[in-house]
Amino acid sequence: MTTPAKSEGTAAVKDGGAPGETLLKVTGLQKHFPIKKGLLQRQVGAVRAVDGIDFEVRSGETLGVVGESGCGKSTMGRLITRLLEPTAGTIEFEGKDITHLGVGGMRPMRRDVQMIFQDPYSSLNPRHTIGTIVGAPFRLQGVEPEGGVKKEVQRLLSVVGLNPEHYNRYPHEFSGGQRQRIGIARALALKPKLVVADEPVSALDVSIQAQVVNLMDDLQEELGLTYVIIAHDLSVVRHVSDRIAVMYLGKIVELADRDSLYRAPMHPYTKALMSAVPIPDPRRRSAKSERILLKGDVPSPISPPSGCRFHTRCWKATEICRTTEPKLVELKPGQQVACHHPENFADQAPQDTVLLSAAKEAAELVADEVLAESAETSAAVAAEVAGHAEQAEPAKAEPAKAESAEPAGAAESGADAAESQESTDK
Ligand SMILES: Nc1ncnc2c1ncn2[C@@H]1O[C@H](COP(=O)(O)OP(=O)(O)OP(=O)(O)O)[C@@H](O)[C@H]1O
Ligand code: SF4
Ligand SMILES: [Mg+2]
Repeated sequence: MTTPAKSEGTAAVKDGGAPGETLLKVTGLQKHFPIKKGLLQRQVGAVRAVDGIDFEVRSGETLGVVGESGCGKSTMGRLITRLLEPTAGTIEFEGKDITHLGVGGMRPMRRDVQMIFQDPYSSLNPRHTIGTIVGAPFRLQGVEPEGGVKKEVQRLLSVVGLNPEHYNRYPHEFSGGQRQRIGIARALALKPKLVVADEPVSALDVSIQAQVVNLMDDLQEELGLTYVIIAHDLSVVRHVSDRIAVMYLGKIVELADRDSLYRAPMHPYTKALMSAVPIPDPRRRSAKSERILLKGDVPSPISPPSGCRFHTRCWKATEICRTTEPKLVELKPGQQVACHHPENFADQAPQDTVLLSAAKEAAELVADEVLAESAETSAAVAAEVAGHAEQAEPAKAEPAKAESAEPAGAAESGADAAESQESTDK
């Protein structure tokens, strides 16, 4: 997570590879959940939750993944951590194909790839003390940390800002933000290389969201972690991501480095999502401008629209958008886009005329002031995270700290993994 200055200064990237090297590579990844009906449970269709995506995650970076509810973000996260079995495509971790590894094959991998879950209330077993919860990965992996499990767990608790004396307390004795810190400690127990965080702060009060995001940011710096952070709110990932992937209905529609994406978004959907991001700077907010407000819900992933899946909500849609799916191609260095008529770039299919009826119903231009009010709370988080990112820059002058830092630790989402796999991968 990082400002550009921070990414240059990331001192300790886990031994998974030099900063910038490909850690995880995903090709043509699909997950179709079958829909079954009748006594014989015959398959009558499928929810195309993830429908052919390609991307890579580089060592030491934070990849933000954003998109509206139901676009397949969590499914993607569960696929790359192998909590779900893909329908098609491949997943390579450090050059090794892990697409279809079984439980046994994945066991060593579980140390390297961990997940932080959205809901800190349901992801911690209420009957276990936090000592047991954070120490579970050691037991599950048969690892005996130096000085013993208890000592290591207490160290981890203090790394995430909790009192090590609270080792014997139960989850209900902690606030939401503290519980998420416990989840983070568990995820870090085995010193993972890649951490996938699925909406890590969306269940928390606005006042604590920034604290947790900033904690994750600091831990990345200290421990050389690589993050995939899933969010529906661009304001949360903005200041912590090096690159951002924008998903729409099971597809990646734009993948770009953070600054290019914010300076000049190229996919109309990205532009619309950014319209909803509050501007924390009051001087800029007062500037007269209009925003794009998308109407209607995301279409069903059971039968997504033909051609470009966004054509039913896009104010620029033309006939070719209805018939031909645009490929994700690199239109500018470091900026991949799937659109026939991208923003801030030459039209890729200039012969077409806009489908006026669709365009009129698709989106609405709304005066800035109308949205400003509803955006107030997210603005507070964005501003606090941004402030932290700025403050964090001088820290790169002390790389020695990062190198000597011992990763925290304890997450066997292996336990969660097994459970979730049983409950969701049907
Ligand atoms: N186990 C499952 N069985 C059937 N359909 C599923 C399953 N899990 C997810 N889906 C469907 O797949 C689609 C994508 O779901 P997913 O949870 O990945 O979306 P999301 O982008 O994470 O949404 P949100 O922002 O609400 O968390 C949704 O339509 C969802 O209903
Ligand atoms: S212009 Fe066409 S291809 Fe581009 S997002 Fe809109 S509908 Fe899709
Ligand atoms: Mg989700």
